[in-house]
Amino acid sequence: MISEPKGLHAEDLRRRESRRPLRRHHFLVPSIRNFPLGVRRNPPALVKLAELKLLGKGANPYCYNYPVGVQIETTSRCNLTCPMCPTHKVGSEVKTKKTDMPTSDFKAILEDWSKRIFTLHLFGRGEPLLAKNIFELIDYSNQLGIPHVSITTNGVLLDQKRAQELNRVGLSELRVSIDGADQSTYEKIRGTDLEQVLENIAFLRSISDIPVSVNFLLTRQTWDSALKMPEVLERIGAHCLRLFPVVTYDESMADGIYLDQEQQGKYAKLIGQVQRECKQRGKFFIGHNPVVRECILPFLLAYIDVEGNLTPCCRIEDHPLCNVLEVGFFEAWNCKKMCSWRKALLLRRFPKKCIELNCLREW
Ligand SMILES: C[S@@+](CC[C@H](N)C(=O)[O-])C[C@H]1O[C@@H](n2cnc3c(N)ncnc32)[C@H](O)[C@@H]1O
Ligand code: SF4
Repeated sequence: MISEPKGLHAEDLRRRESRRPLRRHHFLVPSIRNFPLGVRRNPPALVKLAELKLLGKGANPYCYNYPVGVQIETTSRCNLTCPMCPTHKVGSEVKTKKTDMPTSDFKAILEDWSKRIFTLHLFGRGEPLLAKNIFELIDYSNQLGIPHVSITTNGVLLDQKRAQELNRVGLSELRVSIDGADQSTYEKIRGTDLEQVLENIAFLRSISDIPVSVNFLLTRQTWDSALKMPEVLERIGAHCLRLFPVVTYDESMADGIYLDQEQQGKYAKLIGQVQRECKQRGKFFIGHNPVVRECILPFLLAYIDVEGNLTPCCRIEDHPLCNVLEVGFFEAWNCKKMCSWRKALLLRRFPKKCIELNCLREW
């Protein structure tokens, strides 16, 4: 599990690590802000955070806390072929078969611990609106009393019937991926019709109070759209913009999609500008901190793929550690492989996969 950095950006990471020793007080600081809702309502998770902060690399990789957020891949099928996406990554096998999660598996996964879950995201690598049982799963999650149930969608299949169904079953939040403020930019990533997606969202907003937020993936091609996104939000009645820098699932795409050196240098400035633009228009903004040299996601979030496998995080979905359907959630959450993954993060001996994804970056 613990391995030498290899692949894209590894040199960079080694250089940084050699000149920057771990500073305990700095550990976690950029990450806590990403989990405001779940963490505050989950006292054991707060205690775990305090332990991580105080003990740093001496903290225990075992998590007595349940995760503050849970993501379950309801389907691994998709209707689009976005070039940067792990669903269709080139040059590497995709482990999970293309299928939907049966309702019975979904219920079995949540069986014992649904009362501990605050936030449940019902999507993974595929398009959740393709899953035949998606409305049933949302409905069931609400019946369990889970406070916040959301999906992230590309919005293409969000026709009037589906919008009405989402309203009926009471989705807490809809996140829509829109990577471009104009058709030509959007099309380079999504290959489809931006206007139709915007209309779909506007319709949903007209018939329901479901809050809509927009996920915007910052790539080399979408860079110029970032500042125009707050205006798009205003037009469709969305309340929040989430800006994520693209991560490297496929090195062969590096020349076309991943940010170049100049853009990386300007990343922090761009985030500031977009944030100000959002504020002026009364929109929330969540932007990933450009300086990420540590990771605590596997202490707080659980990602379960369509086959019931717990993986280290939502970005490393093709690396099953333990199967929740076979051993139960808490057993899987603290299985040997999960604990050694966490230990590697604590010691800053980042697993090869984290480095290859360029997930830990310093721009
Ligand atoms: C895998 S998609 C699945 C949900 C849905 N099909 C969609 O496109 O929103 C979930 C999120 O991952 C993002 N994503 C895809 N490839 C990515 C990459 N290489 N780096 C960072 N985020 C990525 C998408 O933009 C989307 O917001
Ligand atoms: S980003 Fe979403 S829509 Fe695009 S290929 Fe991946 S799963 Fe499908």
